[in-house]
Amino acid sequence: MTGGNPGPVCAVREKFPGDAEALVALARGLGGAFDAAALARLARDVADHAGLVAERSGTHLGFATWATGDGAGSSELTCLAVADAHQRRGVGTVLCEALEERLRSRGVRSLEASLPAAWVIRPDLERARRFLLARGFREVRVDVGHWGPENDRLLLRRGL
Ligand SMILES: CC(C)(COP(=O)(O)OP(=O)(O)OC[C@H]1O[C@@H](n2cnc3c(N)ncnc32)[C@H](O)[C@@H]1OP(=O)(O)O)[C@@H](O)C(=O)NCCC(=O)NCCS
Repeated sequence: MTGGNPGPVCAVREKFPGDAEALVALARGLGGAFDAAALARLARDVADHAGLVAERSGTHLGFATWATGDGAGSSELTCLAVADAHQRRGVGTVLCEALEERLRSRGVRSLEASLPAAWVIRPDLERARRFLLARGFREVRVDVGHWGPENDRLLLRRGL
């Protein structure tokens, strides 16, 4: 018999304060997926929000951060990123499954995510949109000017 168990895609653990610099560098290395304003927001989210880190052999492969609003019934996926060299191997899926499981166990009923609404002309954003739709998110609306002039937001939501 050939093959065998390929082993886990990665390990997932809680984010530590000491991860922040490496996680922002990972996002910065994604070749334009995040513009300067988005990177500034991401740096704040990485510092302030709860998060999970995917790693293998001490290397950061990706991360997810989230915030739970006042109502506590809904959370927002504030950042999800997987390093270029490790994409399309299931790391994003493992991170989302771990995050969704945590939120469900805390009674959170829905999860929101946001993408720049320019996804029609940006292949990297189209990939993220397709990824979220495959995970059960549905498009809710476009918020015009949400992040500034000509910087619209596509809001997506899924039940948990
Ligand atoms: C969106 C993103 C997080 C997805 O992460 P990822 O680790 O590539 O996600 P996965 O590997 O779990 O799934 C991605 C695709 O690879 C496929 N895949 C998963 N494991 C695979 C494997 N072993 N071999 C081949 N394909 C595989 C999945 O089916 C999925 O296919 P689809 O896009 O056609 O639905 C990543 O592309 C990213 O960081 N993008 C830039 C940042 C960004 O836009 N973030 C915003 C999201 S809110």
